[in-house]
Amino acid sequence: MRHLAILGSTGSIGTSTLDVVRAHPERLSVAALAAGRNRDLLKVQCEAFRPRCVSVGSREDAEWLRSNLPYRPDIHWGGEGLLACALHAGADTVVAAIVGSAGLASTEAALRAGRRVCVANKESLVVGGALMHEAALAGGGELLPVDSEHAALHQLLAGRDPASIREVRITASGGPFRDWPLARIQAATIDQALNHPTWKMGPKITIDSATLMNKGLEVIEASVLFGLQADQVAVTVHPQSQVHAMVGFHDGSYQLQVCANDMKLPIQYCLLYPDKQPGPVAPYPWDEARHWTFEAPDLERFPCLGLAFRALRAGGTAPALLNAANEVAVAAFLQGRLGFWDIQACNHETLDRIDARPLESLAQVLDADAAARRHAEGWVHARA
Ligand SMILES: NC(=O)c1ccc[n+]([C@@H]2O[C@H](COP(=O)([O-])OP(=O)(O)OC[C@H]3O[C@@H](n4cnc5c(N)ncnc54)[C@H](OP(=O)(O)O)[C@@H]3O)[C@@H](O)[C@H]2O)c1
Repeated sequence: MRHLAILGSTGSIGTSTLDVVRAHPERLSVAALAAGRNRDLLKVQCEAFRPRCVSVGSREDAEWLRSNLPYRPDIHWGGEGLLACALHAGADTVVAAIVGSAGLASTEAALRAGRRVCVANKESLVVGGALMHEAALAGGGELLPVDSEHAALHQLLAGRDPASIREVRITASGGPFRDWPLARIQAATIDQALNHPTWKMGPKITIDSATLMNKGLEVIEASVLFGLQADQVAVTVHPQSQVHAMVGFHDGSYQLQVCANDMKLPIQYCLLYPDKQPGPVAPYPWDEARHWTFEAPDLERFPCLGLAFRALRAGGTAPALLNAANEVAVAAFLQGRLGFWDIQACNHETLDRIDARPLESLAQVLDADAAARRHAEGWVHARA
């Protein structure tokens, strides 16, 4: 039996994780749940799963939960609350499904405490890089990737001699603007950017999918997770989102991983690893006719992908700078304070203006994150 702490339980990944738990009551139970602002859904989840440890974003919402829950779990709030859930003694497995670099400290702490950490929160890997591996090594933690492309690579690379591998390729749906001309992309609205063709996800990652920043973050994530150089990670646009990743060997051949585009599959892969069992997703329907297409990404229309490669090559704190600027720019776009095309401009400008430093400690990463946020917020303010 695995006992889970789910950080970000009210989000898209968090609710899918609870669906996987429902499908495996004999293998999975919930020890801790943490959310941000959605106290109503958190209350419903607590009533259904009865976790012993609960955390919410604010002190006020923690008091509200204390008065409204029909049982008495330990109730925490804020960053300390996230850590309390991540380190709860009754949990052996942490699902890191917070959005943004707010998930960094809890992911690192859980790895250092020897937990299995199923990481959906790609930003913590992008920002924390090698520090996450160090934390896992120091504490005996186990890091498994929830992102569908990286869960696919985890399966494709298992048992492979690294010397036989020429490159890995992750696929991108291309987002809602895949076939739009540049001028139309530049003027895209919030509703258009939130209208993802193949995946239903939270708002931040949906905007990142429209700019291809999400794929850029995933390129960095793949490099961090599998110890690959920038020129060993490539992106192929595959609008049907059925092939999730490919591994290319020196002999010129490739192996591909295929499954339905449903996050419950990679989530279950991480939770039950190394077991594979029937779950909430049906086997791939090979008897239905289907049409798969593949194309190269266009860096002129989607410059955020190029910026991610630039940050990966620069190394050190450069990915943290890019990630922080992007979080600020996406939030400003969603608030109607920036245009769609301004997101890439803000990211570009922040990378140009702030020097990257070698990556040595978590404190230094948090400093880089804060400096990039200040710079990007100033840029947004001047622009708005
Ligand atoms: N959705 C997908 O299909 C998918 C696929 C691959 C990877 N990912 C990654 O998974 C992560 C989560 O994505 P999502 O789509 O699930 O996002 P989402 O739907 O926006 O959910 C985010 C979750 O994080 C919580 N949260 C946000 N900030 C918090 C804070 N400071 N403290 C505590 N809780 C906080 C939210 O709580 P409230 O809602 O209660 O405020 C919510 O539960 C992201 O890093 C994303 O890139 C997502």
